[in-house]
Amino acid sequence: MSELRLATLVPLLIADAPAKAAATLALDAALAVDAGAVIAEPAGIPGRPERPRLVEHIQLKPPSMRTPAGISALVHAIAHIELNAIDLALDICWRFPGMPEAFYRDWLRIAQEEAKHFTLLREHLLSLGFDYGDFDAHNALWDMAERTKHDLLARIALVPRTLEARGLDASPAVKRKLVGAGDRKAGEILDVILHDEIGHVLAGNRWYRFLCERRGLDPITTYAELAERHQAPKLRAPFNLEARRAAGFDEAELAALTNP
Ligand SMILES: [Fe+2]
Ligand SMILES: [Fe+2]
Repeated sequence: MSELRLATLVPLLIADAPAKAAATLALDAALAVDAGAVIAEPAGIPGRPERPRLVEHIQLKPPSMRTPAGISALVHAIAHIELNAIDLALDICWRFPGMPEAFYRDWLRIAQEEAKHFTLLREHLLSLGFDYGDFDAHNALWDMAERTKHDLLARIALVPRTLEARGLDASPAVKRKLVGAGDRKAGEILDVILHDEIGHVLAGNRWYRFLCERRGLDPITTYAELAERHQAPKLRAPFNLEARRAAGFDEAELAALTNP
């Protein structure tokens, strides 16, 4: 495969989770980019393993931090988010033509960082005596990909700038939980993830503004409209304002968060 956007379909279609992560990491970042190609959607996007079983979000109870299985369930839930994040970043590359080459290179790098995150968490899960697939999971992230597959602006507004940004907010409390339960290794992995995720949201903000400018739209009112139209989850405090600032949200956007 000699073109980057087409090449991203290969790992996206792989069902086995560790194999998907490995194939993502193996993508050649130096491949040429054909930004104008309109690629027909193949069947089977995204490839997913038979396990974990996917259930409704509300059926998943927060795991207890008093048992090794509960700690592992939380690590599993984060690994599941990272697996979805691999698919989301790959999907942006092939699906949406007409962006500058740097856009596709940003999202390939992000997909590879998500693959690293998944791999770190899965290896940690194995050391705890479990594997990816051993606990139930939900499909909320890919649902948002489906809802926004017809519009890149909506995809960027709602995935990196909403769901991934919410991950920045959630990170300190999740880390406290795991480290508080004695899982220092998970805490170290979460530090790596938080550092990289700031970069992902930063890329989201950069390309969101690029698209708003190209279409002559106001970034703040457009975000509110898109969030409403696509039923974005309501964002709740506490917000990780330090991480959000580092990720490129400006003061007016941060004010709109706390005062919608
Ligand atoms: Fe990640
Ligand atoms: Fe990410």
